[in-house]
Amino acid sequence: MKQFEIRNRHFDRLFNTPGLMWLGQNTNHFHPHPAVVKAMLDSISSEEYHAYAPPAGLEDLRAQILEDLGLADQSVLVTDGAVEALYNVCHTLCAPGVDFVTTDPGWKWPIDFARAAGARTVEIPIYKPENGYKLTVAQLEAAVTDKTRLIYLVDPNNPLGVCYNAGEIEAFTRIARSAGAYFMHDCTYAHFADEHTLAARFYPERAITIYSFSKWLGVAGLRIGAVVADPDLIERLAAAPPNNLGCNVLSQRAAIAGLRIKDDWFPDINRRQRRNQAEIVKAVAKVRGMSVAVYPSQANFLVVECIDAGVTPEALCDAYRAENIMIRQGTYHTPTFGHRFVKVSTTVPEEWVDAFCARLPDMVAKARGIAEVGALF
Ligand SMILES: Cc1ncc(COP(=O)(O)O)c(C=O)c1O
Repeated sequence: MKQFEIRNRHFDRLFNTPGLMWLGQNTNHFHPHPAVVKAMLDSISSEEYHAYAPPAGLEDLRAQILEDLGLADQSVLVTDGAVEALYNVCHTLCAPGVDFVTTDPGWKWPIDFARAAGARTVEIPIYKPENGYKLTVAQLEAAVTDKTRLIYLVDPNNPLGVCYNAGEIEAFTRIARSAGAYFMHDCTYAHFADEHTLAARFYPERAITIYSFSKWLGVAGLRIGAVVADPDLIERLAAAPPNNLGCNVLSQRAAIAGLRIKDDWFPDINRRQRRNQAEIVKAVAKVRGMSVAVYPSQANFLVVECIDAGVTPEALCDAYRAENIMIRQGTYHTPTFGHRFVKVSTTVPEEWVDAFCARLPDMVAKARGIAEVGALF
């Protein structure tokens, strides 16, 4: 069977597993605000979906995204999730002969997009406790050359949950500017951070902000996000995008409603996921050889190191899978460091995290006896 078929069956099985506890994809499973559900129901009953939405997104949504980011002078292209924005930027800016620079670990798909467009990809290792698991200014400086066309920073980082401060972001953008490179700032998890600084504040001409509704609003399956940048660059991205017929209208209505209720609704969501982080830290501390790499995570997940407990991440995922709990093996993010850890997502009902924590000692014991694990993705 082809690899994509195997992968698809894997996710189809997960998606169709009743009661599966999704602790593996950083998706948000808290109940939505009623206004968000109502907006979608209203969209269905009005039958507005017979028409295509405007190609760059509903104007109301575009204006609200800029307001949420505080980037009044920039322009917005609404996309089918952040991933379409990443795809479009990589294919528009990357080409043979140019470099795409990012971190390891980070998010793997834009690396594949950049390679598919012909770029050489450079991954800077950041899985280093001595640097607080962060990209340093010196590392970026050493990696960037006059061939660098695109720097891709996931901030907060997936999977580590580290977030960069204003000084670091300013220094990174200074390096990008000196090389004439674009700085793609993936802010998919920014809403979970205590403080977050947009690269666009320092480098409005070539910073590209990637925005997602999947995680903070909890609508991953609706596929809605955006790319925000200087209007000239958005003009280029809007010229031949993967989807030029407008994004799903239900999703856009949900996103508009979500931005309206965000200040009322989201602080409690973040409080609850931080509570979940704290419970996981307590449970992990009780198992010899296990530890949490970065706490508190500035995103909605934790890296749980299992290497010193004598279990592989794959075996631990497999043990939990039999309990209807999905967690993610580190190799999804990084072939180099992935054998060290699993990732556990925290925007889930407290009962799910409590189930993860209660089973942890037994799952580690069980995983020690698991030698062969089927394909995981
Ligand atoms: C860093 C990062 N960017 C983008 C995405 C995709 O976001 P979306 O669901 O909006 O396409 C993810 C999903 O996990 C991610 O981790």
